[in-house]
Amino acid sequence: MMKKTFSPVSAETAQPSEHDGQAADFRARSKLSFDRLVEMGRKMGMENPLFVCHERAAKATSLINGREYLNFATYDYLGINAHPEITDVVTEVARRFGTSCGASRLVGGERPQHRELEKSFANLYGVEDCIVYVSGHAANVSTLGFLFNTRDVIFHDALAHNSLVQGARLSGASRYSYVHNNCDDLEEKLKAHRSARKRAVIVTEGLFSMDGNIPDLPRLIALKKKYDCMLLVDEAHSLGVLGKTGRGVREYYGIEAAEVDMWMSTLSKAMCGCGGFIAGSRELVEYLKHGSPGFVFSVGMPPVIAAACRKALEIMLREPERVRRLQRISKYFLEYAGGIGLDTGAAQGYAVLPILVGDSMVAGFLSTALFRRGIYVMPVTFPAVQEGTARLRFFLSAVHEEEHVREALDAVVEELPKAQAVVEQYRREHENGHQ
Ligand SMILES: Cc1ncc(COP(=O)(O)O)c(C=O)c1O
Repeated sequence: MMKKTFSPVSAETAQPSEHDGQAADFRARSKLSFDRLVEMGRKMGMENPLFVCHERAAKATSLINGREYLNFATYDYLGINAHPEITDVVTEVARRFGTSCGASRLVGGERPQHRELEKSFANLYGVEDCIVYVSGHAANVSTLGFLFNTRDVIFHDALAHNSLVQGARLSGASRYSYVHNNCDDLEEKLKAHRSARKRAVIVTEGLFSMDGNIPDLPRLIALKKKYDCMLLVDEAHSLGVLGKTGRGVREYYGIEAAEVDMWMSTLSKAMCGCGGFIAGSRELVEYLKHGSPGFVFSVGMPPVIAAACRKALEIMLREPERVRRLQRISKYFLEYAGGIGLDTGAAQGYAVLPILVGDSMVAGFLSTALFRRGIYVMPVTFPAVQEGTARLRFFLSAVHEEEHVREALDAVVEELPKAQAVVEQYRREHENGHQ
């Protein structure tokens, strides 16, 4: 019998396989359609707006390719990124602890900054405890993915952030998306699907990141009680933004913290760092800390970031005038936009201000035209929002001035019809078979 030997398959002897070359082919469909969009945009004179490089801390203005831009694409809502007190504390902590936590906190141990930060957020909400994850996205994916399973059910707003939807999917629970910000639709779904499942959770954002509107939290609380559900509120865009002192949607409505089971927020927005937390009962936090994969199997937050976020929170509480300034400039934006005929959709005038333009190509083209005029604002297009509801999404901060808003919105009014005309012409030519 011939002895079998292993020899690498030569090019000549290899059998063609239907999967040939696919293992390392990352040109997935979304990438291909994105390439097509970019190519179409290029033909129309549009530049790819993604991955621009900022040459200093991006605040109300930023430096890009040596040019000063008005910046509406950063979530530094309170304008405290690069605050000297934050830079100082980060430097001090880096000297003593370095920049890495080195391992998962569960097995490699923590630094004082971790517990200090968690206590600060637990105190902010007046709840028993808090867990901090190294990423906001991971906080949602890992929390929902770990807490719920196939016997359970998750009800989420149709515009809930990707991380919430991914977490719901990962859990294996039944998942129902209710019409954006529509508690009647939620109640219909609760009536139809709650009782068949063991545990249930309703998931909302405190301020919706696409539309800039606020959920009816009191009604959500009433529904959660009526249908025996938990409630998770993602405060990514409401912490530092809503309420007299920036304590978020709880302060906005004046409700008790205990009415919500999981207060979640990212730390990458008003808190000027990165990471995310879940604040709630001691039992919940302990359970997550011993099992949630994004915490157990992921490195702890770098202590410098924990210290930076805690300092940002301290500044927010010490200087509520920042919150007031942000709210004032956001209202000004809303009124000025309305006054010159721009469509701000459902926005209520809190930090996230969309200008709806409808067509995705128009939004992309408009963003390029503004960029050429020194205004940096990103388009949000399908599939992030429904086709026909594409928009420019302005993020405002406490350090934006009224003249920044006027300059940007006046430019939108001038550029929007031009962008619409270019897109219409492009479509006409292509429908007629021209190149
Ligand atoms: C509502 C919401 N939740 C979670 C996240 C994820 O947070 P991070 O970007 O800090 O990971 C985001 C990010 O934009 C968000 O908008």
